[in-house]
Amino acid sequence: MKTLVLYSTKTGNTQKIAQAIASETNSELVRVANPEPTSDVNLVDYDLIFVGTGIRAGNPFPEMVSYLKTLDLHEPKTFAIFLTWGGAGKTNQIVSGKVRAILKEKNQNILDGFFSSYGKWDMRRTNHPNNEDINAAKIWAQNTINNI
Ligand SMILES: Cc1cc2nc3c(=O)[nH]c(=O)nc-3n(C[C@H](O)[C@H](O)[C@H](O)COP(=O)(O)O)c2cc1C
Repeated sequence: MKTLVLYSTKTGNTQKIAQAIASETNSELVRVANPEPTSDVNLVDYDLIFVGTGIRAGNPFPEMVSYLKTLDLHEPKTFAIFLTWGGAGKTNQIVSGKVRAILKEKNQNILDGFFSSYGKWDMRRTNHPNNEDINAAKIWAQNTINNI
């Protein structure tokens, strides 16, 4: 199975989780920055796409939203959502729902649930993502692949 990790990051937390998932699953790793991914990537080439973002004010990062909205995949692909967040309210659930809604609109398959890790946020959550978070991400990614 060919897998891709697609992520957006502003302060590096999501990048740490994305790198852990990619190394655990032998996936290619592509950062989505404004306005385009930093490398040329064609989602058609992959069986499973891990898609990750941090959260700002209850929203996924706009560069990821813009990118996902440009997708034009005629054959549905399978996506698994991961997030890093500061632990504010239920914004992880809200944001995974928003990412899911964009992909649904594009007629894609999205696996149930999502993975979220705390990420450092100013003086809050200063020690995240830590080794435990990284390990949890790896286990989630491996289970995700095993369950397909
Ligand atoms: C301006 C701003 C707004 C944020 N809003 C939220 C939020 O609504 N909910 C939350 O849980 N975390 C929030 N965070 C924390 C980030 O989502 C968290 O630090 C995340 O790990 C950042 O990902 P990155 O390091 O990959 O950019 C916010 C952080 C900043 C700087």
